[in-house]
Amino acid sequence: MAAIFEETKINGMTMRNRLIRSATWEGMCDQDGRPGEKLITLYRDLARGGIGLIITSYAYVRTDGKNLPGQMGIYNDAFADSFKLMVKAVHDAGGKIAVQVVHGGGQTDTKTAGRKPFAPSAAKVGQFPEIPEELTRDEIKKIVAAFGNAAHRVKAWGFDAVQLHGAHGFLINQFLSPLTNRRSDEYGGSIENRARFLLDVYRKVRETVGADYPVLIKLNAADFIEGGLDIEDAIYSARRLSEAGIDAIEVSAGTPSSGGKSPVRIKITKPEREAYNLEMARRIKGAVDCPVIVVGGFRSYEVVEKAIRDDGMDYISLARPLIWEPGLANRWLQGDRRPAMCISCNNCFAGGLQEGGIYCATEKKENEKAARR
Ligand SMILES: Cc1cc2nc3c(=O)[nH]c(=O)nc-3n(C[C@H](O)[C@H](O)[C@H](O)COP(=O)(O)O)c2cc1C
Repeated sequence: MAAIFEETKINGMTMRNRLIRSATWEGMCDQDGRPGEKLITLYRDLARGGIGLIITSYAYVRTDGKNLPGQMGIYNDAFADSFKLMVKAVHDAGGKIAVQVVHGGGQTDTKTAGRKPFAPSAAKVGQFPEIPEELTRDEIKKIVAAFGNAAHRVKAWGFDAVQLHGAHGFLINQFLSPLTNRRSDEYGGSIENRARFLLDVYRKVRETVGADYPVLIKLNAADFIEGGLDIEDAIYSARRLSEAGIDAIEVSAGTPSSGGKSPVRIKITKPEREAYNLEMARRIKGAVDCPVIVVGGFRSYEVVEKAIRDDGMDYISLARPLIWEPGLANRWLQGDRRPAMCISCNNCFAGGLQEGGIYCATEKKENEKAARR
């Protein structure tokens, strides 16, 4: 029977347990997307904390795919030394690290992207800050190539795996969603056509890194927006990716404009509110042959254990709990099985937007209170 703390392999990458740090934008890179000491220290601490695999922040494959300040960029060979230091810090601490690669598409603004944003269609939708420009087929091919070039850097710089960001309303998700993809060419219309960009990106990345390098994807199981991607279409994409040789699918859901069903839900106050993508992940697991990772609201050891033992999940990934407690995996391993301290308030975002990097605002408050006592 599968257990949290057992060693497993994904396409040759050995992981010490079934716990993964899900991609988390930290807002700690310089304006060009280059990581520095602060971020490297954060990853080193995560590795020391015992997590099985660290997935970095989403990293833009072209500057016009940038989405947030301080975001990581993986488009420039001149960043090699900084990224190699990151890999070394994690490996020296016994960890594994993958880079999540992204293009923001229409989910950005002119100021951040440095040009008018691109998207599958020039759609006026809540998730786009501006009406984007419709991508030409020529531009689509260039963006596919940029994903390939990014994956080449990820492998060449020593990372253990690459993850495509196919969730949370970014460009791959925009192609999959009928709401944001209204094209009438071979990239739009049926799900076969809407999944074409995703599969083109996957194949380009696979061709670049080779058969024996782990390629993962984070995929939305549903957008929870009227007219957006639904579970049936997500299952189709997952099955096609599995047939094409993807090494693992991480299941998430929602976009920043999905209200209470955003990818980052709040008020996870009791175990019944945890694991909010688990049912959809179970359906995807039933349709694919590759390992499935599920993310979203995992807080208790028992809920994690059950998802692996009874629901067939191969891996559980966590984001917010590790901001307060980078050592959560080791804490659980050593027998302290109390739930994660995270209260899911989402106040971690503010530091990234305003203070040069995310941090747990609740932990800070608690520490200040303790210091006054
Ligand atoms: C500060 C912050 C930054 C995030 N950045 C990313 C990201 O870069 N890529 C991504 O796929 N998800 C990102 N997420 C979403 C998380 O990976 C995860 O899917 C979500 O927070 C739910 O998991 P949790 O309940 O364990 O936090 C971010 C979440 C937070 C709180």
